[in-house]
Amino acid sequence: MRLERLRIRGLRCLAEADIELGEGIHVFVGANGAGKTSVLEAAFLLSHGRSFRSGGAKEVLLQRGASSLSVFGEIRHQDGRIGRVGLGREGARWDARLDGRSASLGEVVSECAVVCFEPGSHALIAGGAEERRRYLDWGVFHVEHEFLLAWRRYQRALKQRNSLLRSNSPVAPELFLSWEAELSQTGERIHFMRVRYLDQLLPHLEQTIGGLLPELGAIELRYRRGWPEERDLAEVLADQRDRDLSRGHTTQGVHRAEWSISFEHAPMREHLSRGQEKLTALGCLLAQAALFASQKGEWPVVCLDDLASELDLAHQTAVVGQLAGVGAQVLVTGTELPAPLQSLSAHVFHVEQGKVAAPAIITS
Ligand SMILES: Nc1ncnc2c1ncn2[C@@H]1O[C@H](COP(=O)(O)OP(=O)(O)OP(=O)(O)O)[C@@H](O)[C@H]1O
Ligand SMILES: [Mg+2]
Repeated sequence: MRLERLRIRGLRCLAEADIELGEGIHVFVGANGAGKTSVLEAAFLLSHGRSFRSGGAKEVLLQRGASSLSVFGEIRHQDGRIGRVGLGREGARWDARLDGRSASLGEVVSECAVVCFEPGSHALIAGGAEERRRYLDWGVFHVEHEFLLAWRRYQRALKQRNSLLRSNSPVAPELFLSWEAELSQTGERIHFMRVRYLDQLLPHLEQTIGGLLPELGAIELRYRRGWPEERDLAEVLADQRDRDLSRGHTTQGVHRAEWSISFEHAPMREHLSRGQEKLTALGCLLAQAALFASQKGEWPVVCLDDLASELDLAHQTAVVGQLAGVGAQVLVTGTELPAPLQSLSAHVFHVEQGKVAAPAIITS
C-alpha cells in the first residue's frame, strides 16, 4: 500500500501541510525542529491511533494555540483500491473517518498500516514488556480477523474483574466466575493467535536481523503466555483470587505475556550494545512488515526517522538494501540526505519551520 496524500492540520508545528507522495523512497530533509518527525508521526497516527513518541500524548500533539488537529490520508492498495482515512480531534476524543463516513478507530487502523523505526525504537528490545506486547498485537491484529473482538472482550472482562478486586465491600465469589470464564475463553484465543503469529514471524526475523547482525549468530524467540503452562486460565484466576485481592489487580493472563529475542552469541539482552538493540528493533519492524506483505500481498508504509543519526553507514546501507526493490513506500527523515540514498531515485521534500515544500526527484 502507499500513502498518496497526507493532509495534516494543527499537529505540533505543522499548521497546514498537504503532501503528495509517490512510489518508493521519500526523504524529508530539514534542520532540527523543522517538523520532519511530525510528518511521520501523522502517518503513524493513522495506523496506530497514537503517536510513537513517548511525549506524544494527545494534548502535546495539538499545535499550541490551535483548536483542532486532523490527519487525512489517501491510501492506494496493491489492487488499485483507494481508502480514505482520517483522524480528527476537537476537544477530548478522536473522531475517526473512513471513506467519508464516521468509523471506529479499529476500522481506520486496519485500513492503514505503517511501521516506524525511530530513535525510541530500541525500547522494543530494552524497554518493558508492554512495548513488546503492543508490537506483537499490532501484527496479530492485521493478520487475524478475530483478534480485535477477542482483545476487546478480554479487556472488558479484565476491567470488570479488577474493579471487583478493588471493591471496598466484600464480593461474592460467584461474581468473579463469569468474568474469569470470559478471560479464560478470550485469553486462550489471544494466546493461540500470538503463538501462530510468532511462528510465522521467526523466518522473517532470521532474514532481517540475520542481514543486519550476522555476527550475533542464530536467533531464538522466547514467549511466555502470562500464566503457567498446562493450566486452565479460569482455574489459575480462581486460585489467585486472594492474592489478586491484596494486590488490587489481576496478576495472571494474556495481559502479562512476554516475548523476547536472544542470540547465540548474545544470550541476554544485556549482552547487546545500544546500536545492536536498535538494529534488533529495526529487524523486528522490518520482519513485521515482511510478514504483513507475505500475508496481505502488499507492504505497509515503512518510516525511518533520523536514519543517519541512528545507524552507522554500513547498517544504513544494509537497511536501504533490504527495502529497495521490494516495492515498499518508504519515508525517511534526516538533517541531510542520507548517504546510501544519494545513489538511488528518491523524492526529496525540504521541511522548514513547519512547512513542507513540494518535492524534487533525485536520480543517480
Ligand atoms: N504542540 C506543539 N505546538 C507547536 N509546536 C510544537 C508542538 N510540539 C512540538 N512543537 C514544535 O514542533 C517541532 C517538532 O518538530 P519535529 O520533532 O517534527 O522536528 P524534526 O524536524 O524531526 O527535528 P529533529 O531533527 O530535531 O528531530 C519543534 O520545533 C517543536 O518545538
Ligand atoms: Mg526528528
